[in-house]
Amino acid sequence: MLSYEKYLKEVLIDAQTLQQRVAELGEQLSRDYANSPDLVLICILKGGVMFLTDLTRHLTVPHEIDFMAASSYGRGGRASTGSVRIEMDTRAQISGRDVVVIEDIIDSGHTLHFVLQTLQARSPRSLRLCTLLDKASRREVNLQSDYVGFTIENKFVFGYGLDLDEKYRNLPFIGVVDEAALRDG
Ligand code: IMP
Ligand code: MG
Repeated sequence: MLSYEKYLKEVLIDAQTLQQRVAELGEQLSRDYANSPDLVLICILKGGVMFLTDLTRHLTVPHEIDFMAASSYGRGGRASTGSVRIEMDTRAQISGRDVVVIEDIIDSGHTLHFVLQTLQARSPRSLRLCTLLDKASRREVNLQSDYVGFTIENKFVFGYGLDLDEKYRNLPFIGVVDEAALRDG
């Protein structure tokens, strides 16, 4: 048994379904930004990395990629609160450019709300959000994503960039965590 298998309750989105949807999002972004003079994708670390690297290969419009890291504190590792901090900022200029934020998952929305406010203050030409997963029922702030891969139920998931205590981001699918196995260690 591979080490992650004991924590895996079920595969929620298999690798093929993920890749198919990422390709669709890439095609959609390519259409929407076909006339963009200056597009930049800002990936939110670390969870957005797999999504970004697959997505960028489906974009047919020229674009820059850059990274930003944010964390939220308060309720421990698996839930965020309103207190968010930028841990690593972008190097790219934002002013006057078309910006798309690339994120793994929106849960309460606090993290993205703060990130978007921070970027908006730098006067982009446009600012949109593209998230692979959306736990829409968990939202605590008014935030909607312009592009969503999959809307999912309120279950803790891992794989394809999302971590289980910093591990298993490399899995090619999205799995639901078996909470009982996690408690047992
Ligand atoms: P929010 O601020 O509550 O929207 O939290 C968003 C962040 O929490 C995401 O960027 C993830 O890093 C993390 N997160 C939320 N739900 C999950 C999950 O089910 N699995 C792994 N990470 C998650
Ligand atoms: Mg994240």
